[in-house]
Amino acid sequence: MPATPAAPRPLRVALLGCGVVGTQVARLLTHDAADLASRAGAPLELVGIAVRDVTAPRDAVIDRALLTDDAESLVDDADIVVEVMGGIEPARALLLRAIAAGAAVVTANKALLAEDGPTLYRAADSAGVDIYFEAAVAGAIPIVRPVRESLAGDDVRRVLGILNGTTNYVLDQMATTGASLEDALAEAQALGFAEADPTADVEGYDAAAKAAILASLAFHTRVSIADVAREGIRSVTAEDVAWAARTGYVIKLLAIADLREDGPGRAPSGVSVRVHPALVPLAHPLANVRGSFNAVFVEAAAAGELMFYGRGAGGAPTASAVLGDVVSAARHRVLGGKGPQESTYAALPILPTGAAITRYQVRVDVEDRHGVLAQVTQVLAEHGVSIEAVRQPTRQEDEVDDAEDGVAHLVLTTHAAPEASLAAMVDAVAALEPVRTVTSVLRVEGA
Ligand code: NDP
Ligand code: HSE
Repeated sequence: MPATPAAPRPLRVALLGCGVVGTQVARLLTHDAADLASRAGAPLELVGIAVRDVTAPRDAVIDRALLTDDAESLVDDADIVVEVMGGIEPARALLLRAIAAGAAVVTANKALLAEDGPTLYRAADSAGVDIYFEAAVAGAIPIVRPVRESLAGDDVRRVLGILNGTTNYVLDQMATTGASLEDALAEAQALGFAEADPTADVEGYDAAAKAAILASLAFHTRVSIADVAREGIRSVTAEDVAWAARTGYVIKLLAIADLREDGPGRAPSGVSVRVHPALVPLAHPLANVRGSFNAVFVEAAAAGELMFYGRGAGGAPTASAVLGDVVSAARHRVLGGKGPQESTYAALPILPTGAAITRYQVRVDVEDRHGVLAQVTQVLAEHGVSIEAVRQPTRQEDEVDDAEDGVAHLVLTTHAAPEASLAAMVDAVAALEPVRTVTSVLRVEGA
């Protein structure tokens, strides 16, 4: 009679962090234990949860007996380590320690990966263990695995998306309810979308970290957060939001990663990665990405355009992505095999910010007299920038309370040009004698 196969031994899961995301990871690991065991091929046993303060109040789903402030001992005795504490240290040291001890690691820590991912990838490669990080980009949306694995046989040319739930929530609230940036940000914090330090969201660091991770995977090139040209939403005013609506746009914080190809059949010359607020036409699908939702467009040579959409932040959505990674790592433990390694063979140069191709919408206050528009358009021509539209709204249309007599408001929208030419053009327009103020400069994308 054949021997009955032995039941697989439980896999020991250590959880580092029990905040917005960690609490939901613990809940799913406990609540869905039977299903997860069937999917993973072995029971997943949550053996401990490392926190800063073991005495702090916790959600009722947390078994307080599992809490510890000794994260090092916890990782030393685990098969799978899940890091959802955030920050660079001690997260990096703990992950490296876990890898060195032979554990598979799962992290949602985009700040760490975008700053020093290669150190972790190298360590995981040499130890022969998995490192998974689906939750680090766009919360619940499966985007890391599609770019890293599903599109590994194709050539990705562009990644364009809304990668930060907090700023999307804030901009959406400003546009739809007239809320101030500060009030909308406080709501996003209360809802658990924002980073521990929300400056990371507002100033675009969080989206830049995610853009760096996606660009690295998409273009087989190391891109760190320092390579990403970054502007946050702090300078976006209520007036900008109102003007966007009047001119047929909505303002979104976009992340854009482009492969620069200088002609058909020629090898790519570099990679451009940027994060900044941009005017998106109301008819574009990204314009309808509301609240804390994220969306990512990927353009690949053979696949064409792909779009990924879903909840980009929040405890349960992010925990879903974490658990997917835990099950993948567990399957490898049970059945053998290993997830993909870092791929950097293309090693493309990172292009300077000024090389990015974009369009501008510029609002200027000028003296309302004959010949001024001609002077302004002359400056654009001198900088090789062609105009798509010039609009001079009437006093009723522009609804500017403090409209001065003798001052006209112009809204110039350009065609695509290198960022460096557009920026130089704005400086030259500002220097014209009849120009009172350049009130706003926003890039236009997706048109
Ligand atoms: P929180 O601030 O809510 O939770 C952090 C947790 O880590 C807390 O439990 C904290 O302990 C613990 N912790 C922090 N530092 C230490 C330390 N030095 N030693 C031990 N424990 C520590 O963060 P989030 O859950 O929001 O985010 C966690 C990670 O997930 C971050 O990397 C974040 O970028 C990422 N992420 C977050 C998303 C979200 O929507 N919130 C979405 C996608 C990714 P204590 O409770 O005692 O303070
Ligand atoms: N603070 C991040 C955001 C969390 O708002 O998108 C998800 O990564």
